[in-house]
Amino acid sequence: MNHQQQINKAVKGIASIQKKNKKEYWRPAFHITAPVSWMNDPNGFSMFKDEYHLFYQYHPYSPEWDNMHWGHVKSPDLVHWEHLPPALAPSEPYDTDGCFSGSAVEADGELVLMYTGNVWTGPDPDEDLKQVQCLATSTDGLRFEKHVQNPVVSEAPAGRTHPNHFRDPKVWRENDYYYAVLGSRTVDNVGQALLYRSENLLEWEFMNILAAGRGNMGYMWECPDLFRLDGFDVLVMSPQGVLPEGERYHNLHQAVYAVGDLDLEKGTFEFDVFHPLDHGFDFYAPQTTLDRFGRRIVIGWFAMWESDMPEKEELWAGAMSLPRVLSCEAGRWKSRPLPEMADLRREEVKRSGVIIEDERQIEGVEGNCLELQVVIDPQQAEQCGVDLLANESTGEKTKLVYNAREQKITLDREKSGTGPGGTRTTDVVLENGLLHLHIFIDHSTVEVFMQGGEKVMSARVYPAEASTGVRFFSDRTIELVEIRKWKLS
Ligand code: FRU
Repeated sequence: MNHQQQINKAVKGIASIQKKNKKEYWRPAFHITAPVSWMNDPNGFSMFKDEYHLFYQYHPYSPEWDNMHWGHVKSPDLVHWEHLPPALAPSEPYDTDGCFSGSAVEADGELVLMYTGNVWTGPDPDEDLKQVQCLATSTDGLRFEKHVQNPVVSEAPAGRTHPNHFRDPKVWRENDYYYAVLGSRTVDNVGQALLYRSENLLEWEFMNILAAGRGNMGYMWECPDLFRLDGFDVLVMSPQGVLPEGERYHNLHQAVYAVGDLDLEKGTFEFDVFHPLDHGFDFYAPQTTLDRFGRRIVIGWFAMWESDMPEKEELWAGAMSLPRVLSCEAGRWKSRPLPEMADLRREEVKRSGVIIEDERQIEGVEGNCLELQVVIDPQQAEQCGVDLLANESTGEKTKLVYNAREQKITLDREKSGTGPGGTRTTDVVLENGLLHLHIFIDHSTVEVFMQGGEKVMSARVYPAEASTGVRFFSDRTIELVEIRKWKLS
């Protein structure tokens, strides 16, 4: 079957699964999910003809990872998204076992996708694979044709680089060149990123090993992204195999950023440390784009490899995070929810000066599809916080606890419902003695932005339908200086 026939087949497959009409309780309302079946990494996040496009790793035929297609959504504003037919399907000898992750760039009026063609060459998925870099183009942003010159990069650079693990090109235009940063590993399994450049997107010159891990930086770097942000050079990537360090790196794989020195002529990026982009459970393979206002927006896969995904019962799996605006202010990294999400706000409930002695629900503050902003003055409390998606009769809850003595916050999904449990903890520094929480709940997603975007914690949770309570608690008197809550629709 040629590419278009494969796409048509996928469209039919999606429609036939949609007809099965399963109950869908855990499907988010304002986060991107696939119409049915499995999604992972965001791909090709870009702007084309004044609209935002987001693609994603997609297996249209079941809620399991398998032969990768590219799913496709577009939006005028990054808030309201429309589903489009899949953009890429495996169809050629060089991508017969998957159109793996990649990115997009606008060139000469076309939207050009650069992706990794994957072929299994034997039974071991970790060793027996051939990965090459490919292009597909579109004039209407809807139908994509694979380039006749594919693959445009057919071998990993000889020498230090592992010959097979070589994927996830992130392409951008700068001065007279297109550049692409790729994820890879060394022959002895140290994560690294590679830099290429091209004048025409077809002939690529390998420039250098852009950066490589030292110490506990993982055996493979997936999905790198490289950009300038507020005067700093930033490398974002998803290292596999980083070991836990204190409270950090307890997920199977990590999404991190490093601030360093980029030399585009030499093709090097020097940095000392990297930091988690999210301190929760589920945020991986993020990709960024510049929006129409020049803001750097990041979206990540809101799930984690090998994690339980009870939504598979509903015949879909995986979601995207909210779009987050990245910035670096006075040397501090910030990650904030897209302000335009406010378009979805309905029925504001607002209170101020609420005193909590032990536990309390606040009238009108509840739900499973909401935005909640709370400013807490912990006063003398040692522990205080809020239970989300709570149910008094079953004890179900997703707990957020501030520990004043340790100045840490813990997101606890041990009692969140079905699905994975665990806790994640991170430091939080109060601002004038106040804790600022900005929380988004969307059926099976919880995102907690803290202290004006200094930190984010994200979790997938699978509560029962009746678990919609919000309950504040404390071991001493505290004041909820301000609470604002909206339904989102
Ligand atoms: C990251 C990743 C990429 C790869 C894709 C395959 O989650 O493993 O490196 O291209 O997923 O779906």
